[in-house]
Amino acid sequence: MTNPKQIVGEKATEFIENGMTVGLGTGSTAYFTTRKVGQLIQNGLNIRCVPTSKSTEQLAYKWNIPLVPISEVEKIDITIDGADEVDPDKNLIKGGGGAHLREKIVASITGYYIIIVDNSKLVHHLGKFKLPVEITPFAREVTRRQVNQLGCTSDWRKKEDGSDFISDNDNFILDCSFELIKDPRALNLTLNQIPGVVENGLFVGMADKIISSDSEGNLKIY
Ligand code: 5RP
Repeated sequence: MTNPKQIVGEKATEFIENGMTVGLGTGSTAYFTTRKVGQLIQNGLNIRCVPTSKSTEQLAYKWNIPLVPISEVEKIDITIDGADEVDPDKNLIKGGGGAHLREKIVASITGYYIIIVDNSKLVHHLGKFKLPVEITPFAREVTRRQVNQLGCTSDWRKKEDGSDFISDNDNFILDCSFELIKDPRALNLTLNQIPGVVENGLFVGMADKIISSDSEGNLKIY
């Protein structure tokens, strides 16, 4: 097996124990976790899960994974999710799939938050990947100008057919090019103070464990 996404996605399921409530991430890496969780459940693992997006919810239905509405959950034991960038302090950029609002809510009530990435996602400083910012539709250009004043250029995320990408929460995604984010904690707070910003893709101080792999399958867990 040489797909690093599959390697880390499946490896992370070793942290899951019977009786746990498990958050299921979104994206092409988290896909492998969800698939493996489905297999483990078929073999007798007894857990309940909370999906971080409509697409992961669909995968869970497909593989008969028991789901629980997040409103009925006080605490999630473990969440396993991908990321777009990971810095040495385990700060993240997420939202390449546009699911970062639900992912951050799930992460906020998670006891142990595991991030799974291939090595290409490990960076010294966050910011090369365009920071996804979820924006409410009302007066979206006003909000965009306010975001740009923080020192970035930005583009509305589009689908392949050229129409606007709409999030699971019926909002737009603004992809923001900061190039180098010197202080992720400060930027996270500043962005979220703009009234039209619903949530941004900076996850600061949230990840407990990073599992990464290169294309040869060499794992790094820290
Ligand atoms: C979705 C995310 C994903 O976890 C992130 O984009 C990584 O995706 P992939 O594993 O497909 O590279 O944050 O909103």
